[in-house]
Amino acid sequence: MGRLQGKTVFITGASAGIGEACAREFAKEGSHLVLTARRVDRLEKLKQELTGKYKDINVHTVALDIRDKKQIDDAVKGLPSSLKDIDVLVNNAGMVHGVDPLVEVKEDDLDIMFATNVKGLVFLTQAIVPGMKERGTGHIINLGSVAGKEAYAGGSIYCATKHAVDAISKALLIELVDTPLRVSQICPGLVNTEFSTVRFGGDKSKADAVYKGLQPLVAEDIAEIVVFTAGRPPHVNIADMLVFPSCQAASKIVSRNA
Ligand SMILES: NC(=O)c1ccc[n+]([C@@H]2O[C@H](COP(=O)([O-])OP(=O)(O)OC[C@H]3O[C@@H](n4cnc5c(N)ncnc54)[C@H](OP(=O)(O)O)[C@@H]3O)[C@@H](O)[C@H]2O)c1
Repeated sequence: MGRLQGKTVFITGASAGIGEACAREFAKEGSHLVLTARRVDRLEKLKQELTGKYKDINVHTVALDIRDKKQIDDAVKGLPSSLKDIDVLVNNAGMVHGVDPLVEVKEDDLDIMFATNVKGLVFLTQAIVPGMKERGTGHIINLGSVAGKEAYAGGSIYCATKHAVDAISKALLIELVDTPLRVSQICPGLVNTEFSTVRFGGDKSKADAVYKGLQPLVAEDIAEIVVFTAGRPPHVNIADMLVFPSCQAASKIVSRNA
């Protein structure tokens, strides 16, 4: 029996990209799932797929906008009793808007990035970690980014939010060091998901140009690493991992062949 079989995993942003791929990888391991995002229709489809394929897992979906603290608290309080004891929290939901230089960044874009990537992650963690502490077990896995390790032009606010995730992950790890809880941060480089389409306000051709002539990571590459991280024995904590496609060396240093 694998270490993740029968564990309960709570994933934010499970309707697309890395979060959706994490749901599939944890399901393969026999984990029960709480899948959250705003596009609950997608979550329902994913639930049907996974419960059809893996008969022994429970999957619960919740429509959740992580910018809304009350929705977060209600979602956690309203979990079915069989899924209340969360073993792994994957703080994955996140987004970027625009490529404006700092002096032109719109207040709305600034607000939405901080509300989603920082405040949402903090409120979710605050809602779930106390239960983990009471039970003496739990693992928080945050999706950081190379943008949390270095800054780049046109990404000031997104980079600031991911630097915040970096700081929060490190501080939480220190705060929980005398408990059995683990805190990990996985920091991808370029992953081809809906992320760039969201960045460019739905403009698919601009999004595709980001990956032109190179082989980016795919969501499954990161999901496998998240599941590997969660599946280490209790005395092992992968605290921080930076993951690039082979053609990338820094946020804006990539090799393009085409
Ligand atoms: N793709 C990359 O190159 C890359 C690189 C480094 C780090 N990351 C990080 O990886 C994480 C996942 O990104 P991805 O690449 O998988 O992007 P994605 O395909 O765009 O998926 C983002 C997910 O976040 C959810 N989300 C966005 N805003 C939300 C909100 N207010 N409330 C609840 N859920 C929300 C979306 O669901 P709904 O829209 O249905 O709510 C979606 O499921 C993010 O934290 C991102 O910063 C991505």
